[in-house]
Amino acid sequence: MTVISVIAGDGIGREVVPEAIETLDALGLGLRYDVLDHVNAQSYLRTGAALSDSDLDRVRASDATLLGAVGDPRVTSPDYARGVLLRLRFELDLYVNHRAVTLLHDRLSPLRDEKRRGIDCVIVRENTEGLYAGIGGALRGSSELETALDVEVNTHAGVSRVIAYAFSIARTGVCLVDKSNAVPHGGRLWQRCWAEQCAQWPGIHATHQYVDTAAMRLVADPTAFDVIVANNSHGDILSDLAAQLGGGLGTAASANLNARTGFGLYEPVHGSAPDIAGTGSANPVGAVLSAALMIEHLGHPQEALAVRSAVARSIADRRCTPDLGGTLTTRQAGAAIRAALD
Ligand code: NAD
Ligand code: IPM
Ligand code: MN
Repeated sequence: MTVISVIAGDGIGREVVPEAIETLDALGLGLRYDVLDHVNAQSYLRTGAALSDSDLDRVRASDATLLGAVGDPRVTSPDYARGVLLRLRFELDLYVNHRAVTLLHDRLSPLRDEKRRGIDCVIVRENTEGLYAGIGGALRGSSELETALDVEVNTHAGVSRVIAYAFSIARTGVCLVDKSNAVPHGGRLWQRCWAEQCAQWPGIHATHQYVDTAAMRLVADPTAFDVIVANNSHGDILSDLAAQLGGGLGTAASANLNARTGFGLYEPVHGSAPDIAGTGSANPVGAVLSAALMIEHLGHPQEALAVRSAVARSIADRRCTPDLGGTLTTRQAGAAIRAALD
């Protein structure tokens, strides 16, 4: 029996995850769910506990995790997101954040030139190191001398394994994106790991761009990219940018993976969207497509394809939420996807 641990989290996470689960149920895969409903900002504010050790054990005991979003305007400390999402990514060693973007419908492209619209790329984001490592400190003194340091951690093993994953999924090429023209030590390490990995994958076209240029080129002509591999923070930023080129942040799906154990945590790229939470207008597509990625990884490629086609059909018929030019609510858009399932 396949067990999915579920953390809907906060805001629209609680609205879009039920749509993803109902869509999975319509496929008749016999999935079982272990719902960690208490993992949310409300209980964090009450108890100070984000994700407990026993929660982590439940996630470990499951076959995969489906997550909505964590974040709440009342929580200003980074300890909450660090305690839930980053704890899961780090402790389960989900070193790849796989964020694929395909243009869902021509009408949704922000680009005018139709030949340059068809984004179909994967951002492979390093997911357990970089600026997110939480190493650093604050030096207080007079306010003029006050200094805060967050150390960007880059290890040879960590960088090499995420680059190797990027090559392993490439169709035409991999582009390394970094800031090695300005950031000396990490930049050199990434460049060396890159050269070593390029030698291991001679058949695959390998290119390099600085992150500022890559951001510009993604907008100018996203069709130029197949797989982009980047560090944790560059990958975070570029994946929101790419998501918009694919139709909107509400449509983007992601997998946090340990490519060696195969365990994955699947979540939409977006957050808890407090500005629209409770209005019933959140787009469920990112969550539904994350669930499709999950069942694909669990060995159900046919069903995953069926979900993706149903999403494409519902969007083509404008049976979607307002962010995609439709008039449906979250529930109605989820139902439209399920109605389009073969
Ligand atoms: P956000 O992704 O929540 O929202 C950004 C914008 O996109 C908002 O205008 C929102 O309305 C819109 N949007 C996002 N998802 C949408 C959807 N499904 N349908 C329609 N519109 C959608 O980013 P933010 O506002 O910067 O952050 C809000 C909270 O979410 C913060 O606490 C942040 O830390 C958290 N966050 C969590 C995750 C996660 O859990 N993976 C990711 C990003 C942000
Ligand atoms: C994401 C989010 C998280 C990140 C935040 C909530 C810590 O933006 O999943 O992209 O930066 O990784
Ligand atoms: Mn992000």
